[in-house]
This record gives sequence, structure tokens and C-alpha cells, in this order.
Amino acid sequence: MNLGISVYGMNRGISVQEAIRRLGDGEVIAIPTETVYGLAASVQHPDALASIYTLKGRPKDNPMILHGASVDQLLPFVEGWSEAHQACADAFWPGPLTLILRASEQVPSIVTAGLDTVAIRIPNHPMALEILEHIGPLAAPSANLSGSPSATKASHVLDDFGNAVAVVDGDQAAIGLESTVVWAVDSPWRILRPGVIGADEIGHEANIMVNPTPSHHVPAQPAEADQTPLSPGTKYRHYTPMARVMWLDLNQIEAASIAPVQPRLFVVTHTEDRRSQIQTLTQKHPSMLHQHAGSLDMLAKHLYEWFREADQRNTDTIFIEGFEATTPLGLSLTNRISKTIG
Ligand code: TXA
Ligand code: MG
Repeated sequence: MNLGISVYGMNRGISVQEAIRRLGDGEVIAIPTETVYGLAASVQHPDALASIYTLKGRPKDNPMILHGASVDQLLPFVEGWSEAHQACADAFWPGPLTLILRASEQVPSIVTAGLDTVAIRIPNHPMALEILEHIGPLAAPSANLSGSPSATKASHVLDDFGNAVAVVDGDQAAIGLESTVVWAVDSPWRILRPGVIGADEIGHEANIMVNPTPSHHVPAQPAEADQTPLSPGTKYRHYTPMARVMWLDLNQIEAASIAPVQPRLFVVTHTEDRRSQIQTLTQKHPSMLHQHAGSLDMLAKHLYEWFREADQRNTDTIFIEGFEATTPLGLSLTNRISKTIG
């Protein structure tokens, strides 16, 4: 919890009760979730939904996820809810999984950006759930300016939006990477955005084929859908730090540390071996910034925070220690990091 040490936290953090009241009045509020913070508006308030796009600077053709407190709250907004969907809901909700289904007529077209499908999710955060229980479904993209990394702390929301958005401070997001987005409209289902819940687990629970579409490739266009990619978000340039991002290479770091003008480096490690090597190099290269994540879980939790920090400190190059992408978490991390490299 933010104990009010930062000026922002003191002035801008609002209570769950206050958030419920303001959302009911048609205001846009940032809420915590287990993945990243969301910039939320009630599905009952079209003007508030529209102002999310303006606040973020988000292209109008990029749809938003509808969040609910329960399956019952979300069912009126979708069509074709099947046993497979229910099995996923039972297994993974509340949690970091977003299902795309056919949208019902109740979904405002501003939420779907005119598509005939809608993305739904039940987030796993007590404050988000309490707000959703009281106010009903909320559309919420990640609470960052378009072109910034997703916000994983209340202070990140304030860095991006200042006084324009009040935030419920629900501590640092537990996961730190956005939810898995799955096309679950027809068979086979496909992963449009990898997250910590992987294709195999989803397929196993739903007893259905799930294609782990490599998400850095724009998914194939549905034949009838007139140039709209399956997940519009995938066609936009994602956050790239001002700094160059590279996989960690000790030779390059050593070369940089004897250069006449030392570049500003920000090094991220996650194994003990690399940690101690970098700590030794830091003695030769005192301006080098170093952050250590004890595990890939911790790397995910802090990645966006460190991207933001690297840019605030005018870093030239961010080096991230590589890893084998053998788990869904590893795959999602590789997906997000390679987007900043490539
Ligand atoms: O973890 C998360 O998913 C967070 C938290 C706040 O829930 N939300 C989030 O929202 O990351 P956003 O808007 O930043 O990313 C949602 C992604 C976008 O790439 C969007 O294009 C895609 O989901 N999406 C939303 N509705 C869709 C639809 N009907 N069809 C295909 N893709 C959709
Ligand atoms: Mg986003």
C-alpha cells in the first residue's frame, strides 16, 4: 500500500467507495488489477467510454476489454457462451485471461470499436472486484498513455495522466504483464496476446484446440472482415523505451566501461551468476544502473517499472539477461521484450 509518502499518493489516491461513486457519475478512474492498472469507465456511460480514448491518445479502432465481477455480470454482453468458455471461467477466473466472444447487442460499439466481438475478463484483485460488484461491468484498457509501458503502480498512472485521472492505489500489480488474450469465437481458439496462462493450459481445461499463434506476427485476417486484424492492438507500435534494448552481452558491457565517454547503461539480471558479474563491473563503471530480479516472475513484475525508470534516467542502452522461453511466463516476457528490441 502507498502510505502517503509520495505527494501523489496522498493527494490522488481515492478509496474504493469514492471510485464507485465517481464511476457511477460517469467519471474515468484508474483501478488496480493483478496484471496492470486499468483505465476504467462504466459500460453505462458512453461519454466516459469515449473519453478513455481521448485521455490515452488511443486509436479509435482499438477495442477495450470489458471487466466484470462474475460470469453472470458478463453473460448479457456475449453470445455463444459454451461449456468450453465456462470451463475456462471456472479454471482461470478471477485471473489473467481475456476471452473474445461474439458481442451481444448490449455492448456499446465504442467498447468493441465497431467489431462484432467483445473481450471479457474477471480480474483477480480484491479492490477491482469490490468496485465491479457494486458498479457493474467496466471497460478498461491498460492505464497508460498510448506509447508508454502499461502502469504497474499507482504512481505510473499519475506520471502519465497527472490530475486528469484519479487512481485507486491497490499496490504494485502482482503479475506485471497484461492478460492472455484468446480468440474464443470459433474453433480452433487462438492466442492473440500471450500472458502467464498458456495455450496448453487453456486447451486442457476447455478441452478444445488452442493455437499458440506467435503474437509478434499479426494474426491472419478473417476473410470477411475487411482489413481488420483479429486483434487490432497487435498492429500498433508498442512501447519502445527511448533507450536501445538489447539482450545482455557481457563483452559489450565491458567495452562500454572502458570507452572514453561512458554510455549510460541499465542492466537487468535474474540469475545469481550474472548478478555478481555485473556487481563487479559496476565498480569499473559507476554510472551503470543495475536491477536484479530474483526470478522470471520478479522480472515480469518489475519490467515496465524498470523501462520507465531507465527512460527517466536518460539511459542509452538497457541490457536484459536472456532466458529460455519454455513456460507461458517466459514466452510472454520474450514477447514484450522482443517488441522493444525489434
Ligand atoms: O491485463 C489486461 O488485459 C489489462 C487489464 C487492465 O485488464 N488490460 C489491457 O487492455 O491490457 P489493453 O486495452 O491495453 O489491451 C487489450 C488488448 C488490445 O490489444 C486489444 O486490441 C485487444 O485486447 N482486444 C480487445 N477487444 C478485442 C476484440 N474484440 N477482438 C480482438 N482483440 C481485442
Ligand atoms: Mg495496453
